[in-house]
Amino acid sequence: MSQELKSIGIAGGGAMGEALTRGILAAGLVSPSDLMVSEVRAERRAELERRFGIRTASDNVPLVGFADTLILAVKPQVIGTVLAEIRSHVKPSQTVISIAAGVGLAFIEQGLGEGVPVVRVMPNTPALVGAGASAYSLGRFAGPRDEYRVRAIFEAVGRVVQVEEPLLDAVTGLSGSGPAYVYLVLEALADGGVCMGLPRDVSLVLAAQTVYGAAKMLLDTGEHPGRLKDMVTTPGGTTAAGLLVLEKAAVRAALQEAVARATEKAREIKQRGEL
Ligand SMILES: NC(=O)c1ccc[n+]([C@@H]2O[C@H](COP(=O)([O-])OP(=O)(O)OC[C@H]3O[C@@H](n4cnc5c(N)ncnc54)[C@H](OP(=O)(O)O)[C@@H]3O)[C@@H](O)[C@H]2O)c1
Repeated sequence: MSQELKSIGIAGGGAMGEALTRGILAAGLVSPSDLMVSEVRAERRAELERRFGIRTASDNVPLVGFADTLILAVKPQVIGTVLAEIRSHVKPSQTVISIAAGVGLAFIEQGLGEGVPVVRVMPNTPALVGAGASAYSLGRFAGPRDEYRVRAIFEAVGRVVQVEEPLLDAVTGLSGSGPAYVYLVLEALADGGVCMGLPRDVSLVLAAQTVYGAAKMLLDTGEHPGRLKDMVTTPGGTTAAGLLVLEKAAVRAALQEAVARATEKAREIKQRGEL
């Protein structure tokens, strides 16, 4: 357990709140007695206490008195209410991390007052199984200690990178929406296997493990994907024949455009104030 990160409070015990709780405890970042989750629904609080042996609270003020690091994991529409609730309690020695999609650093900093360090994080759903891709942006009062805290927490549920805040929309378009793109590809690969006579369940496992394995190869070796592709492409062989079909169908351009369009959409929604 680190000197920098002794206790964590999570506002919101929903899908993300639970995923973070599981990851934090599995990584041994803090013990269950040093983790508190606030949650409005009593049955949900009881469930989280039973499942993880953590403390819970029905509002957010106890979290602030308890934790050096606070994670705001409530829906974006609720963030304003939570900020108003904790504003007079939170101190500059604490780190406030928000995962609320589309809620800017400036809004949170204003809501908490001068000097409180804020970090904004965009995680994605595979964090629920410990394989998330998260990007964070530091607010103007955040320093190395806050960065240490945010990295430790989100490394417990996957991989973490830092970007400047304006790039978080591109993160939304790539890793935020990305799992859905990959599910579409997976389904299509499995359909291809079924077309060629493989049973559906066998085909799906082969497709999913292939995508997982290819991603793991890239992350473990640090090799360029083009080089990894060339390594499995025998001249005149089966892979070369398959790749030609994908190139003719402009799959690269389609994926690039998907990320660009999703990024633009994230910007549009933010401008309309719907995120
Ligand atoms: N899920 C993802 O993959 C993902 C990815 C990126 C970002 N995010 C962000 O993560 C945040 C949480 O998402 P989620 O999917 O975990 O949502 P969720 O499952 O709806 O979780 C939010 C939880 O907070 C509770 N809550 C509501 N008001 C509260 C309050 N005032 N104090 C404490 N708890 C309160 C909700 O209870 P009720 O259900 O009773 O309202 C719910 O259990 C969102 O801001 C979202 O934008 C999520």
